Amino acid sequence: MKNEFETHSLSQKPHFPARWSNLLDELIPAFVKNRFSPQASWKNKPFSQDDVAFFSKGLLELSDFFTEDREGAKLPNYFTTAKFRSSYFLYFFALQGAKFLTLFERYPLAIEAALKHAEKTGTLRITDVGSGPGTASIAFLIFVLEKLAADKAKTKPGAKVNLPFKIQLVWIDHNETILKDGEMMLAEIFSLFPEFEGSIDLTTQARQWWKHPKDFNFDSSIVLFGNVLNESTDDPRIYNSGLVPFLKNISGAGVLMLEPAFKSASQRIGRIRDELMPHPIWGPCLHEGKFPISEGRDWCHFSVPAVLPGSFFKKFSIKLGSKREWLKFSFVWFAAADKPVLKTKLVRVISDPIRTPRGNQNQLCTPERITWYKTPARPIYRGDVIAPLTSSSGGKKSHDSIPQPKFKSRRN
Ligand SMILES: C[S@@+](CC[C@H](N)C(=O)[O-])C[C@H]1O[C@@H](n2cnc3c(N)ncnc32)[C@H](O)[C@@H]1O
Repeated sequence: MKNEFETHSLSQKPHFPARWSNLLDELIPAFVKNRFSPQASWKNKPFSQDDVAFFSKGLLELSDFFTEDREGAKLPNYFTTAKFRSSYFLYFFALQGAKFLTLFERYPLAIEAALKHAEKTGTLRITDVGSGPGTASIAFLIFVLEKLAADKAKTKPGAKVNLPFKIQLVWIDHNETILKDGEMMLAEIFSLFPEFEGSIDLTTQARQWWKHPKDFNFDSSIVLFGNVLNESTDDPRIYNSGLVPFLKNISGAGVLMLEPAFKSASQRIGRIRDELMPHPIWGPCLHEGKFPISEGRDWCHFSVPAVLPGSFFKKFSIKLGSKREWLKFSFVWFAAADKPVLKTKLVRVISDPIRTPRGNQNQLCTPERITWYKTPARPIYRGDVIAPLTSSSGGKKSHDSIPQPKFKSRRN
């Protein structure tokens, strides 16, 4: 049984579903090799170190697009190029999927809300906005199916069962080619779950996600925005008159927006949150007041220590410079308006210890303004939670005199 601190902490190592590893190590490499190999003789052969060398050329280039803060940068429509689509499957799919899986594990009540919605309506409808090859929705599907498979193994081991609901995925992306690739791969997903009889109904919509917000199906079990807002226009009309009214009417597990850890991406979701409030939120926010850093020099993002699955993923990470040991992202997960999410008085830590003239301090997320907090003897880190502040607990309401934060390296 988790205590309240563990329930809200965002700094714990995630566990990943076993079939996620099978997807990364078996299904995806075989799929990519078959679909993207330039020579027919390469297809249908096991994925090897030579393939790592071949496919990492595109990956190194694609990774350059993604490492810079994209605001103002001209991002090409990279998925029109086959070498970038193949590298996305082999590396970024694993990386971004792992971030989603981390959050699915952190918020079990949200997952329960999605499943209840599916049972009530008869369909688990997963809407994936800026889906690319379906990263977020496939991660969600594997997370849910593995959970159902574990329950089934306890009651009817060995027997085939029908899923308790239909599955419908809705993918929206302005790049039609990546939708097609994702669809081809999705067709093979059930091979990872031989215990279930079922099929997946996929609807793809090749368009700008924001052009027809009324087309969103309000009756989704979950809506996932994955790394798309930072590539989208920043016209406030889209957000204020299109997206925010939609967010007020969501159902099931609500809407999870996950973005890179960049400042512009994080501040954008912070501003969307402030437009919508008051509204129930699964996370990361622990108060309903104004988000203190939707502009200015600071921003809210998380770094979660993780042992990432996927042996080819590891090889590609090394080609990119180092083994990946952290998942970095910003996010907000809006609940349905009628959802009583967990109330807590805990306070979210949103920085690692920062050296200041008054000694090491952490930033805390409190309404309207950041609160500075003396780093305790056992240091606290970004994503941790602490007990409610009292006047003697070291909180200080002003940060104007503090110099530009210098981030110290974190514990392992
Ligand atoms: C970085 S990829 C993320 C893919 C996937 N969601 C993930 O997290 O792995 C961003 C995706 O958003 C799509 N995209 C960018 N701007 C878009 C827009 N205005 N409307 C629809 N899709 C868009 C791109 O084509 C790309 O597939």
